[in-house]
Amino acid sequence: MKTKRAACFVLLLSFLFATLSAFSADKTAMNKKKAQQALSYALGQITATAQNGKEGLFARTTEPDGSWRWVKPNDWTSGFFPGLLWLLHESSGKKQLREWAEKWTAALEDQKNNVKTHDVGFILNSSFGNGLRITGRSEYRSVLLAGAKSLSSRFNPTIGCIRSWDHGTWTFPVIIDNLMNLELLFWAAQNGGEPRFREIAVSHALKTIAEHIRPDGGTFHVVDYDPVSGAVKQKKTHQGYRDDSTWTRGQAWGIYGFTMCFRETGDRRFLEAATRLANYFLDRLPPDYVPYWDFQAPGIPQEPRDSAAGAIAASGLLELCLRTPDAALQSRYRQAAEKILDSLCSPAYLTRGTPMKSILAHATGSKAANSEVDVALIYGDYYFVEALLRYLHPERIPKPAAAR
Ligand code: GLY
Repeated sequence: MKTKRAACFVLLLSFLFATLSAFSADKTAMNKKKAQQALSYALGQITATAQNGKEGLFARTTEPDGSWRWVKPNDWTSGFFPGLLWLLHESSGKKQLREWAEKWTAALEDQKNNVKTHDVGFILNSSFGNGLRITGRSEYRSVLLAGAKSLSSRFNPTIGCIRSWDHGTWTFPVIIDNLMNLELLFWAAQNGGEPRFREIAVSHALKTIAEHIRPDGGTFHVVDYDPVSGAVKQKKTHQGYRDDSTWTRGQAWGIYGFTMCFRETGDRRFLEAATRLANYFLDRLPPDYVPYWDFQAPGIPQEPRDSAAGAIAASGLLELCLRTPDAALQSRYRQAAEKILDSLCSPAYLTRGTPMKSILAHATGSKAANSEVDVALIYGDYYFVEALLRYLHPERIPKPAAAR
C-alpha cells in the first residue's frame, strides 16, 4: 500500500514538474514593465529630437557623434519621424507631440504627387495615415487618396507589378520592400479611391509570391522585369550580401507585408507566404533573436546587426500570431516577437546612456554599399515603437477587412 502511495506521489510530482517546465518554456523574459519603460525612453528621445528639429527636414540616420542626419521630404524615410510623433502622441496623450506631428506631416503634403518612387506609400502612410487614424481630419484623407493615385501610376499591367525604383541600371525593378506600400492602395480602394487600386495591390502581391520567394522560404531582394514582354530579366540583390542570399530586412518587410495583405483580403495565399517567410526568418536567428544584416553574411557572428529588421519583424509577427489558425505557430510567433523586443529593450540595443539621439542602436541601412552600417535608422525606431504598442495593446492591431 505504502509503495503504491509513494509511486503515486512520484507520478504526481513528475506531472507537476512537466507542466511547470512546459509553462516556463512558453514564457519569455519580456514583460509590460519593460515595454512601458522603453516607451517612456522613446518619448524622451523623440521629444528631444523634435525640440532640436529642423523645419521641413526629417531625421533619418545617426552621424558618428550620435546626432541625427536630416533629409528632405522626398527621401523614402521622411514619413517615419512624423509617424513616431503620432504614435507617441497617441500613447502618451501629450498635446505638444500632436502639434509637432501636424507640423512635420504638413511638410510632406507635396509628396502626394510624387510619381517617381513606390516609396510614396511609406512616406504618406506613416505620416498622414497615422494622422488620419488619430484625428479623422478630412484633408489628410484627400492627401492619402492623391498619393494612392500617384502610386498606382507606377503599375505595369503586363508584369502585374508596381515599379519600385527609377534609379540604377534596372529596367523595371521590383523589390520585396514594395509590399509595404500596398497598404496605401488597399486603404484607398476602401475609402473613396478607385476600386482598381485593390486589384493592383493584389496583383503585385501575388506576383511577388511567384517571383521573389524561393523554395526554402528565403527571398530575393530585387526582381527586374522586361516592361514590354513582362518576362523576368534577372533576380538580384541591392542591399543584401549575394544575389542568392536573404537580406534580413527584406525578409522582415515580406513577413509584415504579406500579413497585411492577408488582413486586407482574407486570401490564404498571403497567409501562407507570410508563414513561410516567418519560419525561414525564425529558423536562422542568433540567440538574442536580433538578426545580422543578411542571413548568409559570411563573417557571422562578427557581422553588423540590423535592429531595424528585428523591429519590423517583431511588429509583423505580433499581427501574424493573431491571424494563423495553428496554435503551435501562434505561440511560436508571439514568443519570437517577445524575444526580439526583450533584446531591443535591453542595454545592448537601447541607446540609453550613449550620445545617440535615437531610440535603438545597431541598425544597418546597406552593408553592401558600406552605407549606414551599425547606426540608428528612424524606421527601426518607428517599427520598434509600433511593436511595443502592439505588444501592450493587441486590440490596436488593425482588424481583418472582413471584420471591420
Ligand atoms: N528600401 C527600404 C529599406 O532599405 O529597407
